Amino acid sequence: MVDPRFSVLSEDFAADPYRYFAGLRDRSPVHYEPAIDSYFLSRHRDVKRVLTDHEAFTTETLQVRAEPVMRGPVLAQMTGAEHTAKRKIVVRGFTGQALQEQTRAVHADAAELVAPFLSRGRMDLVNDFGRPFAVYVTLDVLGLDKHDWQQVSGWLNGVGEFITSMGLTPERRRHCLDCAEQLEAYLAPVIEQRRRHPGEDLISKLCTAGSDGIAMSDRDVTALVINVLVAAVEPADKTLGLLFKHLIDHPEQLAQVRQDPALLPAAIAETLRYTPPVQLVPRQAEQDAVFASTVVPAGATVFCMIGAANRDPEAFSAPDTFDIHRQDLGTDRSFTAAAQHLAFGTGLHQCVGAAFARAEIETVAALLLPLLDQVRYSPGFRYRETGLYTRGPAALSLDFTPVHEGAPAVAEPSPPSCPLQGRPAPYPPLFQESGPAVHTTTTPTGREQR
Ligand code: HEM
Repeated sequence: MVDPRFSVLSEDFAADPYRYFAGLRDRSPVHYEPAIDSYFLSRHRDVKRVLTDHEAFTTETLQVRAEPVMRGPVLAQMTGAEHTAKRKIVVRGFTGQALQEQTRAVHADAAELVAPFLSRGRMDLVNDFGRPFAVYVTLDVLGLDKHDWQQVSGWLNGVGEFITSMGLTPERRRHCLDCAEQLEAYLAPVIEQRRRHPGEDLISKLCTAGSDGIAMSDRDVTALVINVLVAAVEPADKTLGLLFKHLIDHPEQLAQVRQDPALLPAAIAETLRYTPPVQLVPRQAEQDAVFASTVVPAGATVFCMIGAANRDPEAFSAPDTFDIHRQDLGTDRSFTAAAQHLAFGTGLHQCVGAAFARAEIETVAALLLPLLDQVRYSPGFRYRETGLYTRGPAALSLDFTPVHEGAPAVAEPSPPSCPLQGRPAPYPPLFQESGPAVHTTTTPTGREQR
């Protein structure tokens, strides 16, 4: 039996939920949490059932949990033709030609943001680089001013806190709503301008969707833009931090990825399976439903525990082992509707940004790995993760061999202002394209050998 005093809201669980997942799956697969009157499901098959049975489990809960800070209905709340049509616009905005251009922007933004840290030989990958990078890049690909990233990041923190909190004080609730209102006010003139002068960016496409027969009000556009901003930013720095943590903890796999960059997508997919940054996905039961002989009553809130489902031995062999070579994951399908892991959800509301997330993390990791020579935890650094709903490293302080500007280049000469001077050429970009700030040089020391 699971200890009757056990709670997913406890500090022990928050410190390391992975310690409890096997017990939950085996002995309490339908865990009731009285303080928030909600059910937590931990088995892969149950989570999959909830996320794919759209009649029995709806996204009604988002009306209270997300809509107030999204300033309107989000994609995950929609159903039927409206959902299909609006989802299609967002998908088009993050795949194909658009994705190729976005990948170039990701590359350039990452090179710019990492540059100040290279000569120091130390960087907190989450707070110095990951969070700024996630906001900067998302603003950039949405056609917003990336230099506003600090202000937008603060507002997004408030919006995210509202959605992911299990209990807000009235003061925090007010703060979160203030953040959402300020974000809405920030977007209003941009939307007005894109309606008058549409470009190629996603906001323009949402504004001009009327020509596809899906006229969107300013409120609809605002909600979808905030939806995409939060959805894209929140998991990005977490995934990057977790990827580096797992590779540093498994030096032989780090060496293999350095040796063969084609393994990076597998390392990203395995990171998402092993430690999904989105840990909980809420649904509402529309009718009584039975799981493992336990009735979840109609109207109940159900939380799908993605982290527990991804470690279910019925779905993955040796699930508690991080293994970029695992046969039961399937790297390419891991970023599609056929994924066996549930880090992007599944069913109608499966993540629309999976292809972009893969390209984003692959591009930035491919850029960073050769630059962070001899990468390791900084002396005295203590790893800690935070978050019940979305989860990732609180910080990731890394030491590496400092990059000295002006180190002799023995291959092609580099532009003098290049921030990445003095390191071996990064891995080839995803698309045959030379990123603006990265060039072909080698150093006398060459790439890290492990
Ligand atoms: C590693 C990165 C990411 C992870 C782990 C992730 C995870 C998820 C999950 C679990 C869902 C399902 C939510 C549900 O069923 O209620 C979801 C949906 C969604 N994601 Fe992502 N996401 C990531 C990146 C992105 C990016 C980069 C974007 C934007 C470009 C994005 C946009 C969305 C949207 C709009 C939805 C709602 C889709 C719908 O309801 O049809 N996500 N994501």
